[in-house]
Amino acid sequence: MKKLASVSIATVALMSMMSSAQADIKTYRTACQACHMTGAANAPKLGDKAAWAPRIAQGMDTLVMHATKGFKAMPPKGGRMNLTDDQIKSTVAYMVDESK
Ligand code: HEC
Repeated sequence: MKKLASVSIATVALMSMMSSAQADIKTYRTACQACHMTGAANAPKLGDKAAWAPRIAQGMDTLVMHATKGFKAMPPKGGRMNLTDDQIKSTVAYMVDESK
């Protein structure tokens, strides 16, 4: 499953060069992956459905607000204050899509 998921992410990345999906993946990799790939400090891992389900249940608005303003060990904007609110919003949407 893990292997399949990364193959499909790579395929999506290839097929959507220049698209916003590509931009979201790039933002995720540079700003979010350090914690959200490893699960550092209890961060929900990308693709971990069990970890994301209760968070997704809060609704997108809450998730985006937490990602923007910070939540427990989650730093505001993942510590990248140069990211715009729109970039955070679409990167959260990407992470949610990959994790449900
Ligand atoms: C320094 C580590 C770190 C980085 C970098 C980081 N996160 Fe997080 N994130 C966390 C942790 C830890 C949690 C879990 C907080 C908790 O519930 O205890 C979390 C939780 C979240 C949640 C769920 C919030 C909720 O309401 O349950 C979202 C959405 C999120 N992060 C998005 C992002 C995005 C988008 C980025 C990149 C722009 C990012 N994170 C970068 C550590 C990080």
